[in-house]
Amino acid sequence: MQLHSISAADENILITNGSQNSLQLIFQEFVNKKDVVAVESPTYSMLIPLIKFLDIKVIEVPFSDDGMDVGFLEKIMKKQRISMIYTMPTFHNPTGITMSQAKREKLLQLCEQNSTIIVEDSFEEEMKYFGKAHLPIKSMDSKGIVIYLSSFSKVMSPGLRTGWIIAHKECIARLTSLKTVLDLSSNSLSQAILFHYCNSGSYELHIRKLMRVFRKRMKTALTSLKKHIPNDKASWVDPLGGFLIWLNIKTNNEINLEDHFLKYGVMVSNGNSLYFNPKSNNQIRISIAKNNENEIEEGIARIGKGISDL
Ligand SMILES: Cc1ncc(COP(=O)(O)O)c(C=O)c1O
Repeated sequence: MQLHSISAADENILITNGSQNSLQLIFQEFVNKKDVVAVESPTYSMLIPLIKFLDIKVIEVPFSDDGMDVGFLEKIMKKQRISMIYTMPTFHNPTGITMSQAKREKLLQLCEQNSTIIVEDSFEEEMKYFGKAHLPIKSMDSKGIVIYLSSFSKVMSPGLRTGWIIAHKECIARLTSLKTVLDLSSNSLSQAILFHYCNSGSYELHIRKLMRVFRKRMKTALTSLKKHIPNDKASWVDPLGGFLIWLNIKTNNEINLEDHFLKYGVMVSNGNSLYFNPKSNNQIRISIAKNNENEIEEGIARIGKGISDL
């Protein structure tokens, strides 16, 4: 975490069974039934059932090319109390967009003024391919209002079920008590394996390899998008890192895009499932995680054909 300018002592860290477990602990411990939380719109798909399960009230904050609309949030916060904001400022899921440095600072300032907790989910912090570095919001958090979480799932293996939370020591103490009640502790065998892997230097070598592979894949994807997608029919923002690209398709046709693109032999995620209140079905999420460069170019060419035929 020091590489990302986040310093943390043992008392600021809780090891969890991955980020989904971290989110459950955080929302269960810090949000009451009467509270309102703000989330980016669209947001991480599995946050939606979690929040619904916990019966928490939500405000969706619109999203633009440089992250959530902090001006919109500011207006909302003048009218009502927001107790927590969940954000993925770096390589946001599903859009791949990175929040600008100015917005990060503004969001932190706003939340400090309103005593609102920021939950910063940085699930792919390592995977930065292009452009200058952005500081995690946690690295600027002098008042201890940011709860930062990350995981080995995306860069190592989801099966390890190991993630971490970094936060103020009182916050970690509360989360630790809740975690003890719910599942005693996380898997110590996975932690021992990861400890030796990281200590031996293998983790850093692995990340460097991932960076080489995925930077190339993302470059291929972005070049292919320019080549194959008719730009009067779709728009997107070039991600600076991560695995995801979000396509806004300009169509009035009310069809299921997952089914439509399957006819062209491509599997995409329909944007609808990533909103609390689905509005339109003309957005799709493309992932470069599973396919090699040839497959990515071929897949995007097929998407381009599918878009042209809409
Ligand atoms: C934004 C985000 N947060 C959390 C998670 C959950 O990760 P984990 O496998 O560590 O529970 C995911 C998994 O896809 C994710 O995309």
